[in-house]
Amino acid sequence: MGIRKRLVGSYFGVICLTVLILEIFLILFVNYYYFHNVERILMNQAELSASFFQQYFAGEDLEKQSGRLLQGFASQSEAEVQILDSSGRLLRDSTGYRADKSMAEYADVQSAITGRPDTWKGNDPITREPILAVSFPLKAHDKTIGVVRFVTSLTETIKTVRQIAVLLVGVGLLVLAIVTLLSLLLSWTITRSIKDLKQAADRMTEGDFSIRVHKRYRDELGSLADTLNMMAGRIAQSEQLKNEFISSVSHELRTPLTSIKGWVVTLKANGAGDGRLFQDGLGIIDSESDRLARMVDELLDFSKLDSGRINVRFEAVNLPELLRHIERQLAPRAARQGVTLEVLADENMPEIQADENRLKQVLINLVDNALKFTEHPGRITLQVYSNSGYAVLAVEDTGSGISEENLKNVVQKFYKVDPHAPGSGLGLAISEQIIKLHRGKLHIFSRPGQGTKVEICLPIENDRNLTI
Ligand SMILES: Nc1ncnc2c1ncn2[C@@H]1O[C@H](COP(=O)(O)OP(=O)(O)OP(=O)(O)O)[C@@H](O)[C@H]1O
Ligand SMILES: [Mg+2]
Repeated sequence: MGIRKRLVGSYFGVICLTVLILEIFLILFVNYYYFHNVERILMNQAELSASFFQQYFAGEDLEKQSGRLLQGFASQSEAEVQILDSSGRLLRDSTGYRADKSMAEYADVQSAITGRPDTWKGNDPITREPILAVSFPLKAHDKTIGVVRFVTSLTETIKTVRQIAVLLVGVGLLVLAIVTLLSLLLSWTITRSIKDLKQAADRMTEGDFSIRVHKRYRDELGSLADTLNMMAGRIAQSEQLKNEFISSVSHELRTPLTSIKGWVVTLKANGAGDGRLFQDGLGIIDSESDRLARMVDELLDFSKLDSGRINVRFEAVNLPELLRHIERQLAPRAARQGVTLEVLADENMPEIQADENRLKQVLINLVDNALKFTEHPGRITLQVYSNSGYAVLAVEDTGSGISEENLKNVVQKFYKVDPHAPGSGLGLAISEQIIKLHRGKLHIFSRPGQGTKVEICLPIENDRNLTI
């Protein structure tokens, strides 16, 4: 069942039940109120008449005085008044109709004869009209000597009660109609948003991530629309990055391969005779294959990190020693570029528990980045010091820097500020993952034109061997 049907159905059900219960109570109440009222009035009049009789006519003969009495009683009431003797025989009737008949068959009369006032509801034997009769004993010296009976037609009362009931049912139906309309409207607003979301999601499953859901209301569905739009944006961005990555990686792989191929062809043709050319060629083939291998390693690493299959093996690492090792490794390149590379190490640093090879990989990437973006006469500083339980490693350069907008993205996989620059854009993403595996943090601070500082904080006490 659809949401619309469920919503409208449940609203309708609840309101139907409520209206029904309310209507029944109201109609019962109105019914009771009106009939009870009529009965009360008649009873009052009968009681008044009886007490009047007791006061002024108690000593007199009922049959003889019945004419006068009736006049007195009837003048106070619009109802038909009857005076009966103690056996239930009708003595007088205010309608003038006078048959010498016994009324003892009526329950109210029977009751009044025995001294108890009573009422009776039924149909008039002649007109078949619904009537209400109230009988009250007429007493003299504590003895019932007759009965006064007030009879009124209920036709008007029944008509009024019916009219009110019809009105109440009408109002109930109106309420039902309004509620149904409102619930239809409400479910429409909900299903409309859901339909939009579904349509957009369908388009996305078909691969169209340029679609955006129109946000209609600021409610949960609205925020779902926002999330979906954001998700589509992210997917579109990563699609784009992936495409750029593929083209840049194929380009990256192509360059060393072309150079290797070129040298192999050259060496094949005339390398045998020329020893120097042969050596140069082999040297270049060697370094180019290294480059290729490094790139393939990086890609492999990345896929492992991405699928969570990488291990870190912790051992005691002397960070100042590690920094100097990296400095030695990259000093020739820095010298070629005319960039100063220096190490500022706090020699009192305790050893930390870390995976040395992985840390080396991270630092080489950071220094490699710094070298890539720093020109002569720049300076690259490698620092290490301890700070409240953490070992802080920093690589700072005076190079081109990164704009604030790009800074947010550089850690993302495949992201490069300049898509055509060499590199896969994976270095920082891998570095961050490795630092995370060490329960550490990587922060980048940069100002365009002034330089970049990458800071790594590693806990000194890393007790367990972690595997993810
Ligand atoms: N020190 C820096 N100065 C200026 N820009 C930097 C610096 N470090 C990183 N970047 C920017 O961040 C991008 C991402 O760096 P990252 O190390 O992740 O990838 P890469 O160096 O391009 O490729 P790879 O490291 O895989 O060879 C770089 O392309 C560059 O635009
Ligand atoms: Mg890099």
